[in-house]
Amino acid sequence: MAFISASILNSDFSRLNDEINRCKESGIEWLHLDVMDGHFVDTITFGSNVIASLRKTTDMFFDAHLMVTNPDKQIPFFIQAGCDNITIHVESDCNVRDSLFAIKESGIKCGISLKPDTPCEDIYPLLDIVDIVLVMTVEPGYGGQGFIERCADKVADIKNEIDSRKLDTLIQVDGGINSQTAKLCRKKGAEILVSGTYLFRSDDMKQAALSLLE
Ligand code: DX5
Ligand code: ZN
Repeated sequence: MAFISASILNSDFSRLNDEINRCKESGIEWLHLDVMDGHFVDTITFGSNVIASLRKTTDMFFDAHLMVTNPDKQIPFFIQAGCDNITIHVESDCNVRDSLFAIKESGIKCGISLKPDTPCEDIYPLLDIVDIVLVMTVEPGYGGQGFIERCADKVADIKNEIDSRKLDTLIQVDGGINSQTAKLCRKKGAEILVSGTYLFRSDDMKQAALSLLE
């Protein structure tokens, strides 16, 4: 049963509390927190101190997506800040396996993400550890980009691998997710839908959220 993780990247940061409440009132339970270091991707967003402040304001599930070059150094801060899941990139410059274990050993969920041009096979050796595979359907770094069609096929390939190994790993898609692309990705096996611009730019977020799951 698919569900939504709302990305705040393109929300109004001057009214973040209201924007988070808007998600909650729309029946959305996961908040997707795009952490960018200006090195792994060009953009700089926010760090663990912002997340620690937000943690005090809501009980939503904090789904952190670390687009940072050295997540191994950052992970303790994001665990401390109260994240419920931490996803790192397989392209990061660290021992990815050890970093995933460090997240898992703290008792929260862990995810691995791959960029559009990264082959699915690169994350197969990590499927035994992770709770989530985050398939990027845009080049990481910005919200509001167009969905990359070929990434939907990666969802299907990873789903086949997960099923063949009888794992219960969830597939998450991220970037350009709207009512049409959500339907395509769900058909291919995605269960967690990250959506930012489509939700926050909508006049009726509740209706927009429902349209992602129809
Ligand atoms: C991009 C981020 C995405 C993005 C989603 O690097 O990982 O989570 O904010 O953006 P939309 O839904 O606006 O395409
Ligand atoms: Zn993201």
